[in-house]
Amino acid sequence: MQIKATNTALLDWTGDLLAVGILEGETELLGDLAKLDEKLAATISELIADEEFEGKAGTTAVSRVGGKNPVRKIALVGLGKAQDLKLDSWRSAAAAIARLATKEKTLGISLPNGSESAEDIAQSMTEAIILALHQDNRFKSKPEDKEPKLETIDLIGLAGQDRAIANAQIIADGVIFARELVNAPANEVTPVTMAQKAQQLAKEYGLEIKILEQADCEKFEQGMGAYLGVGQASDIPPKFIHLTYKPQGTAKRKVAIVGKSVTFDSGGLNLKPSGSGIETMKMDMGGGAATLGTAKAIARLKPDVEVHFICAATENMISGKAMRPGDILKAANGKTIEVNNTDAEGRLTLADALVYAEKLEVDAIVDLATLTGACIVALGNNIAGLWSTDDTLATEMKKAAESAGEKFWQLPMEEKYFEGLKSEIADMKNTGPRPGGSITAALFLKQFIKDTPWMHLDVAGPVWADSPNGVNNKGATGFPVRTLVNWVNS
Ligand code: BES
Ligand code: MN
Ligand code: ZN
Repeated sequence: MQIKATNTALLDWTGDLLAVGILEGETELLGDLAKLDEKLAATISELIADEEFEGKAGTTAVSRVGGKNPVRKIALVGLGKAQDLKLDSWRSAAAAIARLATKEKTLGISLPNGSESAEDIAQSMTEAIILALHQDNRFKSKPEDKEPKLETIDLIGLAGQDRAIANAQIIADGVIFARELVNAPANEVTPVTMAQKAQQLAKEYGLEIKILEQADCEKFEQGMGAYLGVGQASDIPPKFIHLTYKPQGTAKRKVAIVGKSVTFDSGGLNLKPSGSGIETMKMDMGGGAATLGTAKAIARLKPDVEVHFICAATENMISGKAMRPGDILKAANGKTIEVNNTDAEGRLTLADALVYAEKLEVDAIVDLATLTGACIVALGNNIAGLWSTDDTLATEMKKAAESAGEKFWQLPMEEKYFEGLKSEIADMKNTGPRPGGSITAALFLKQFIKDTPWMHLDVAGPVWADSPNGVNNKGATGFPVRTLVNWVNS
């Protein structure tokens, strides 16, 4: 499938499906659209009338064009009101059109421009088209007949935006890389195969790579006892993955991205009961998958920023070697943790990964994790929680998220709640009371950061979609690769 920006006028475009964008309240056809309507024997104006099409955001209407016309079908897509246009309007419209083209080979899309730059519009549309068309049928023995047949997609009126399209393809590819890692079951994506994936990325795109084996983790500072405690019941060895992207010249800043990489979360001895979604816990490496997806995109986009990508991969299992509820673990910074719940394992793996990241002397550390069900209760499935010790970093990330069309909401780092993690016997417990569960998780992580500006993103909801939303189909979303790429590039 090829996406191209074209100079071809709307009137001259020929192909299977021509989609035109309509602003809400602007259904009276003007200029080229009026001429096209005339040429197509009033197909467009009749479609608008028949469907009572109003141009509301997300709505579509399709009609076959009769006779020997150079266009076989016409689609209308609503962009909402002109004053409400933002990049997400073009993204949603492009995704909706891409999903309509189930049998067509050639598609032309002509959307109105607005306050956003042609570059940003071309990028958003390209990302949306690729992501909305992506289906993951790797685990079906026969190909699905619903697979899109599109060969070429012309972005009409966006000639000259080839670079934006190329960048969008790289970013969408990073998102798909993350989606495929999350969609793959835990018998395929293990700490070992995740490390192999990272190794392939390093080789293919010239990243530096270091894999710390269990013995290396034991030797790091005071020993990564928290991370290793989580993995000790698994038959698969832990793999602490550290990829580095270094720019050619001097880096204008250095950052670290740390992704929770629990390839399967059974809960450990606090085993997840049936009905708790244990069978979905292959998604518990969603943070790590997005970290690797971002690494893939950054390695190809080559910004002037040094980026460290860290995935402390392991599996939370049960066996005679499992960590027990009540066990005390020591993290690499020497802090001791009473494990009052083995199912609060993500924060244990991240504790050591954060200590490791801070030793790299970066300007900012961002961790992303499918950390708590409590965050899903608070914000629902489409919005990630955001905590930060640094206002500048929070502002940067919110801006990056806004233009990526990914949703975050900042929650308080309420120090008082740390009282809920007080332990009689160790420096802290790993689990507090149920209320504010995603906040105490953030406060726990904060114990492993000294003074580097730091942000925690709880992505438990948005890494997975139970039904299509925006550019996502059902399944893994690749959230928040687009935000992280924007942020690194900013
Ligand atoms: N991986 C889960 C969180 C999760 C839940 C991710 C649902 C995606 C969807 C995490 O390790 C976990 O089990 N958290 C516990 C914490 C509790 C024991 C304090 C939870 O949220 O119930
Ligand atoms: Mn858990
Ligand atoms: Zn987990």
